[in-house]
Amino acid sequence: MAKKALFTLSLNGDQTDVAAAPDATLLETLRDGLGVLSPKRGCNQGVCGACTVLIDGVPVRSCLTLTARCEGHEISTMEGMNTDPVMEVLQRHMVASGGVQCGFCTSGMLMSARNLLAETPRPDREAVKSALSGNLCRCTGYRTIVDAICTAAEELAQ
Ligand code: FES
Ligand code: FES
Repeated sequence: MAKKALFTLSLNGDQTDVAAAPDATLLETLRDGLGVLSPKRGCNQGVCGACTVLIDGVPVRSCLTLTARCEGHEISTMEGMNTDPVMEVLQRHMVASGGVQCGFCTSGMLMSARNLLAETPRPDREAVKSALSGNLCRCTGYRTIVDAICTAAEELAQ
């Protein structure tokens, strides 16, 4: 096993030191090194989007991202969104619409949705579908998730 190195990550607004192998993915470092569990280990090969986090506000698949490449960038996970008013509205509508079933995809979905609303405050339905196209859900059939994000965007625009 490769010798671990010390990395300093900017995670949810805090500087966090963590030891990780040079080839460790950000998903491994978050979940196994730091106990940050909202990014889920689904496919672990870049397909499902369950591991999505924001880096400098942009959704990335943490299972495909090397920890070593993350120093100097702002990493955001659901754990850091407790006081984010946009995320509060998104979460509320996801629950109300039935967009959360088993919940395995939910964190990744919400991170992608959060980025969408930052870039496009009033997205149409096709834009929502496009923004979520990299996030797979095996439970909901997607309609309730798209409904939730559209109604959240409407509420936030008022
Ligand atoms: S766990 Fe990263 S894309 Fe599936
Ligand atoms: S709610 Fe189960 S995978 Fe999406």
